[in-house]
Amino acid sequence: TQRKITIIGSMNMDMVVEAPRFPNGGETIIGNKISFIPGGKGANQAVAVARLGAPTTMIGAVGEDAFGQTLMDSLKETGVDVHYIKQSQTVSTGTASITLVPDENTIVVVPGANHELKADDIEKLESVISESDIILLQLEIPLETVEAAVDVAFKHHKTLILNPAPAQELPTELLKKIDYITPNESELETLTQMNRSEYSLDEMMDELLDKGIRCVITTLGADGVAWKQKDEQVRQISSHQVSVVDTTGAGDAFNGALAYFLSQGNSVEQAVSFANQVSALAVTKFGAQGGMPTLEAVKEYFRE
Ligand code: RIB
Ligand code: NA
Repeated sequence: TQRKITIIGSMNMDMVVEAPRFPNGGETIIGNKISFIPGGKGANQAVAVARLGAPTTMIGAVGEDAFGQTLMDSLKETGVDVHYIKQSQTVSTGTASITLVPDENTIVVVPGANHELKADDIEKLESVISESDIILLQLEIPLETVEAAVDVAFKHHKTLILNPAPAQELPTELLKKIDYITPNESELETLTQMNRSEYSLDEMMDELLDKGIRCVITTLGADGVAWKQKDEQVRQISSHQVSVVDTTGAGDAFNGALAYFLSQGNSVEQAVSFANQVSALAVTKFGAQGGMPTLEAVKEYFRE
C-alpha cells in the first residue's frame, strides 16, 4: 500500500513582479511583468509530493475569496486532498509579494488566513494525522499550531519532518520530537543561535542533534547539501549544475522530495540525493510550483 504524506502549512497567492533590478528605498522603477500564481511553503511542498506520485493531504487555511478558491482548485488539480483546508470567513487569503530580478528574489509574506489555522483545528484532525505515515511542516503558520501538530504526530509515532522556514528560534520541547529538520545555513544559525563564522557545520548540527532530533539536513545553495545523524560524520553532496530560471520554491521542492523518498523506504543518503535532484530541476522553471517535476521527469533527466 502507498504511504500517505500530510503537509500542514501555508497557502499563499504569489504576486510575482519581474524587474531588471531591485528598486532602492524611495525609488520607482518600471518592471516587466506581474503574475499571480499559487504558492506558500506548505502548498508548494504538497505539490512537490503529489507530482512525484504519493497520496498527499494538505491541512491549511485560506480566506473565502477569489485567491483562496484559486489556491484550492490548483491543489485539487494536482491531486492533493483539499478536504481539510479551512476557509476563513473573516480573514483574507495569505499573499507573498515576490520581486524577481535576474539571479535573485525578495519575498514579503502577509500570512492572512494562514494564521487562522489554530491548534484546535489540528486536534480535530487527529485521525487524518494518525492515518498518515509522514507529516511535513514549515513555519508559515502559528507556532502553537505547529506545536499541536507535532504533539499529535508524535503521539501516533509518525515520522516528522520540519522545514524551519522562515527562520525562527524554536523551543527544545518541540525540537526533540522532530525526526528530520531541514534548515538552510541562515535558519541553522537562528535555530542554534550560533554563527557560521565561529562554528563549523558539524558543531552547529550537533547542537540540534543533542536536543534529540534524529537527523539534520542543511541545504547550502550552490555548495550542495550536508547532513548529519547522531554519532555519525557530516556528509555532503554537491549541487547539480542547471540553468536557473527561478529559485522560488527550491527549498520546497527539496522538502517535498525528501518526504516522498523517505516514504518509499529509502535511506537518508538516498533521500537527500534524490531531493537534491528534484530541487535542481525545480529551479529551471518559473514559479514556486511550476517546476515541481514528476518522478518520470527526474528519472529521465538524471539517467546516466
Ligand atoms: O518557499 C517559497 C514560498 O515562500 C513562496 O511560494 C511564497 O508564498 C512564500 O511562502
Ligand atoms: Na521554480
